[in-house]
Amino acid sequence: MGTCLITGGAGFIGSHLADRLVHEGHTVTVLDDLSNGSESNLRAVRDDVRLIVGRVEDPAAMAEAARGQDIVFHLAALGSVPRSVAAPQPTHEANATGTLGALQAARDAGVGRFVFASSSSVYGDHAALPKTESEVGNVLSPYALSKKVGEEYVRLFSELYGMSAVALRFFNVFGPRQRADHVYAAVIPRFLDAALHGKALTVHGDGQQSRDFTFVDNNVEGLILTSQAAAQEVDGRVFNLACEGRVTLLEIIDMIQEMLGRELEIDHIDPRGGDIRHSFADTTALRMAAGYQPVVELAQGLERTRDWFLAGCP
Ligand SMILES: NC(=O)c1ccc[n+]([C@@H]2O[C@H](COP(=O)([O-])OP(=O)(O)OC[C@H]3O[C@@H](n4cnc5c(N)ncnc54)[C@H](O)[C@@H]3O)[C@@H](O)[C@H]2O)c1
Repeated sequence: MGTCLITGGAGFIGSHLADRLVHEGHTVTVLDDLSNGSESNLRAVRDDVRLIVGRVEDPAAMAEAARGQDIVFHLAALGSVPRSVAAPQPTHEANATGTLGALQAARDAGVGRFVFASSSSVYGDHAALPKTESEVGNVLSPYALSKKVGEEYVRLFSELYGMSAVALRFFNVFGPRQRADHVYAAVIPRFLDAALHGKALTVHGDGQQSRDFTFVDNNVEGLILTSQAAAQEVDGRVFNLACEGRVTLLEIIDMIQEMLGRELEIDHIDPRGGDIRHSFADTTALRMAAGYQPVVELAQGLERTRDWFLAGCP
């Protein structure tokens, strides 16, 4: 049992992590500015979680949140590649400056382990598949750059201050509580929402782009295992966290059609700037360092996500 801070803990992934940590008996604090997350995501554990509404770039809020914590899970960020292409500065402030602020507060508070949510977007234009941690290309978006900066700060804080800090590169995560209702929504909630409302599914480009779609429980599993792994295995390092499956958008649509038992209309529009073409993780390093194994497969995750949509996104 320990004390844990989750920045961004009222968001999609952070709230699932909060559920699991509370369930396991940890004392959980959430720092979130509620810009994309909501208190209702924490409904199941609300009485057991201390919620601080504030920004990670705010030193006072971050210092208050980090005080007395054993572990900091740093998930707060402005997501979305296209959002960052449209307006780079807010993404930089929340993600790059915010990660520096979170690390500094964690260092000053003497936190035992800092786990940072990075992104597969840092692989940029590097073509090799599957993606291994050491082979990164040029980034293609301000979002990717902000995550790369965060990873570098994690490494630097580990080296300079001897902090136990580690970064996990999430690949396309999906599951209940992921928003479908705004312009920067991710592809699986957009597809499911459209399909269940009888609308056409919008595909950027030819739909042959591939992703390593990862059900959110796998991320929670990887985050917790990494927070508990031996320091000499993880400190200053970066690890892929995904399902090790390579699926194109058209294949995901096929799976949704099969799951719903009907054919869906597809509307192809222009490709998006800043997107990478293929994304597929090698997770050997995290398996070796932290004993990570995916716990929910893609098809099962899609069914659970569909059920959440069918229940009215509670
Ligand atoms: N969902 C994915 O597919 C995916 C993929 C790669 C990386 N990630 C990373 O995982 C983390 C969690 O992503 P998510 O999908 O749960 O997104 P999310 O938007 O649901 O969660 C992020 C949370 O951070 C909060 N937030 C944003 N800016 C903040 C700030 N400046 N200060 C405090 N709180 C702030 C938001 O209100 C939100 O609740 C993010 O760091 C994201 O970049 C996600």
